[in-house]
Amino acid sequence: MRHLIDFGDVPRQEWDALYQRASQIMDAPEKFIDVCRGKVMASLFYEPSTRTNFSFQTAMLRLGGTVFGFADPNSSSVAKGETLKDTIKMVSGYADVVVIRAPWEGTAKAASLYSSVPVVNAGDGGHMHPTQTTADLTTITRLRGSVDGLCLGLCGDLKNGRTVHSLIKAMAKFKDIKFFLISPRELAVPEYMRAFMRENGMWFTEVTGLESVIPQLDVLYMTRIQRERFVDPLEYERNKGVYVLTRRKLERAKPTMLVMHPLPRVDEIAVDVDDDPRAVYFRQARYGMFARMALLEHLALQPRDDDPPPVEIGTRPVCTNPRCITQSQPYLPPLVRKIGGVDCCGFCDAALR
Ligand code: NCD
Repeated sequence: MRHLIDFGDVPRQEWDALYQRASQIMDAPEKFIDVCRGKVMASLFYEPSTRTNFSFQTAMLRLGGTVFGFADPNSSSVAKGETLKDTIKMVSGYADVVVIRAPWEGTAKAASLYSSVPVVNAGDGGHMHPTQTTADLTTITRLRGSVDGLCLGLCGDLKNGRTVHSLIKAMAKFKDIKFFLISPRELAVPEYMRAFMRENGMWFTEVTGLESVIPQLDVLYMTRIQRERFVDPLEYERNKGVYVLTRRKLERAKPTMLVMHPLPRVDEIAVDVDDDPRAVYFRQARYGMFARMALLEHLALQPRDDDPPPVEIGTRPVCTNPRCITQSQPYLPPLVRKIGGVDCCGFCDAALR
């Protein structure tokens, strides 16, 4: 792995090695305080973040490295109209690893084409969030012993919830996984995710009710309705508050079930659930820091590539997804990839029409 853009690109063996490393770090963090000494991480956050931004920063600091960057794009040259390409060419000249979050789908993929150092996708619009998946898998493995054989319920805004998309991609690498995808019909997973699950022969069922499936679950992964991604405010109003996990609903769940959430929570988990031993979302955030330490060690120590191959110059966007990075960066090459036999945008995965 040179970049981490999409969890689908991470071979199972490489994940297993990363988990082993994250586990060693958790058990004896003092042994790792110098492994990234002299290394510098760039943190480019074009979108709000608390956990992801802080956990990447603390991860690098705990490895003995340093960090620079911005959490407010208005304080960077984007505000002056600089292209993503130019920003990345310049920043990757200063840093050993670049962590990027943006509201445009496919941003990290686009950045990776122009970077001399590894790029990490810290969330690209409603598309993917693979490092949250490293936190999620670390939590499940640490607390349940393994991921194989589990029955998961993913609940909430599955259309716009990027953490869910990355987690589904990861689950294709494990054995005997079952999924209940719990969402209102209008917030069901995007077509490219359904095509991915079918292509990989994954067992999944789409349902609208949470309570009826709770007793079967080993993991319940709650997510927030992603207000900032709604084009139509009425659609948000119709769906907000649709799922609320309460102590009473948990009574029917297995005593060993894990309640997870990438956070931030709005109202989808009642506060009285926090003290239930099955509620592990705050631990999950802490495990995410250790998972990111393992990832940064892996990526920041790679040799620089100061002569990346030239990238074809695009002439017009081929993708019609209004949230795709190609809409605002027309020089990007026309990348296409097949998902379930359909031609899809190589940046945001939307089907090409
Ligand atoms: C998630 C995100 O940003 O996608 N948060 C996170 O990174 N922990 C989930 C969310 O915002 O709902």
